[in-house]
Amino acid sequence: IPVDPFDYVVFGATGDLSQRKLIPALFHRFIDQQFDTNSRIIGVSRSEMTDEEFQAFAIASVRQFVDATLINEEQLHEFASIFTYITNDVTDKDGWAELDNSLRDDPEVVRAFYLAVAPFLFEPICDYLATRNYWTPDARVVLEKPLGRDLESSIDINDTVGKVFREDQVYRIDHYLGKETVQNLLALRFANALFEPIWNSAHIDHVQITVAESVGSGGRSYYEKSGALRDMVQNHLLQLLCLVAMEPPASDEANALRDEKLKVLRALKPIVGDAVEKLTVRGQYRGVSSEETKVPGYLEELGDGVSSNTETFVAIKAEVENWRWNGVPFYLRTGKRMATRASEIVIQFREIPHSIFSRSEGVPKANRLVLRLQPDEGVKMFLMIKDPGPGGMRLRQVPLNLSFADTFVQRTPEAYERLLMDVVRGNQTLFMRRDELEAAWRWIDPIREAWDNDTSQLHGYTAGTWGPTASIALIERDGRTWHEEA
Ligand code: BG6
Repeated sequence: IPVDPFDYVVFGATGDLSQRKLIPALFHRFIDQQFDTNSRIIGVSRSEMTDEEFQAFAIASVRQFVDATLINEEQLHEFASIFTYITNDVTDKDGWAELDNSLRDDPEVVRAFYLAVAPFLFEPICDYLATRNYWTPDARVVLEKPLGRDLESSIDINDTVGKVFREDQVYRIDHYLGKETVQNLLALRFANALFEPIWNSAHIDHVQITVAESVGSGGRSYYEKSGALRDMVQNHLLQLLCLVAMEPPASDEANALRDEKLKVLRALKPIVGDAVEKLTVRGQYRGVSSEETKVPGYLEELGDGVSSNTETFVAIKAEVENWRWNGVPFYLRTGKRMATRASEIVIQFREIPHSIFSRSEGVPKANRLVLRLQPDEGVKMFLMIKDPGPGGMRLRQVPLNLSFADTFVQRTPEAYERLLMDVVRGNQTLFMRRDELEAAWRWIDPIREAWDNDTSQLHGYTAGTWGPTASIALIERDGRTWHEEA
């Protein structure tokens, strides 16, 4: 369904995010005819560039990040024609006049400001937007992470933006919510009658959420200041946890859903004091240097002689203190340079109360539901069956396997395709509300503080493995193991 025409003003338009994610996502939506040349992308950035150069930048980004079989030259140039560029240092008052002339004063046109810039620039940008009448009651602002380093700084950011934009105009991106497989979690839980009655501590033993990346940090200074806890856990992993743990909302309307997620965040058992060492593990990857493989360690990527206590791996045993989840641990882990790229949510059900089978026939294993978020998107339900054959009863565990690639012919859209269009549609369902963000920081901060005060517990792990052995011990101490498929 086509969206209304829009003026997307992208601050930080020549940055990495814009090149890798935003422009390719817009191109996909354009070739699917969700919008046409009545819409415009107005790039704003400090670098000197002409409209033509910016259009060439957009074309190059599409060529690099979009499947070549989907690119038609004529369409690509038509797409590029919606791009215009303004060279503007946002801290310099004089640069704004050009934007005045670029924006259309037409109530039919949706106006969105995308702040793909460092948060210290949010204030000057928001102030100018307010004073120069760019702000309209229907205008939207899109915020990219990092939305703070802790609770205090996130409150500052929210206050700054909140002086100019009402909460219903603010779209805080957590791109995990835009992923198809993450949205599928909502469908799975709330469009089937099967799961909800057993989605609780009476039937679920524990939950695992893993977001493993095989890439390293690339020596980025942003990552060095952030670390995996802020970069991944505070947002992506906690959002996934919320979607698994929340009560059924009354509808999928934005606030109905966000109210339920907020309740989960507020019910997270605080991890403070001595509990931090017991319930969390942090690690940093070390390089590998052998005949066949050479992978730099985190420190080597930063540069010669640099020392750092930044964690590139985190595992946490979390608990949601409410009636539904009493005593059910949520094991979270994420890391860079892990054995493979794999993100999944594992719902481990409890064992059957009594086996009617003899030991020689097999011991029934508890059911396990695995939601594979990426890559190889799909859903697997591990069940016990009788191994076919005349040799009598032999129990075996096999997965009922729904592979997205085998089941659906259409391409799985990227998260940003959905999110960018939802901003134009005015649908905030897949964006974080201020109180959610702050509740997440409130839970993260004591862990961060304890880590900062005691750097001795940073474990090394070899690049290309599943992280420090301490993270395996974290779950095995409880008589459980991380899910790994044969
Ligand atoms: C980003 C983090 O939010 O998510 C990156 O800042 C990380 O460090 C990325 O690599 C992972 O996203 P995806 O979509 O590749 O799983």
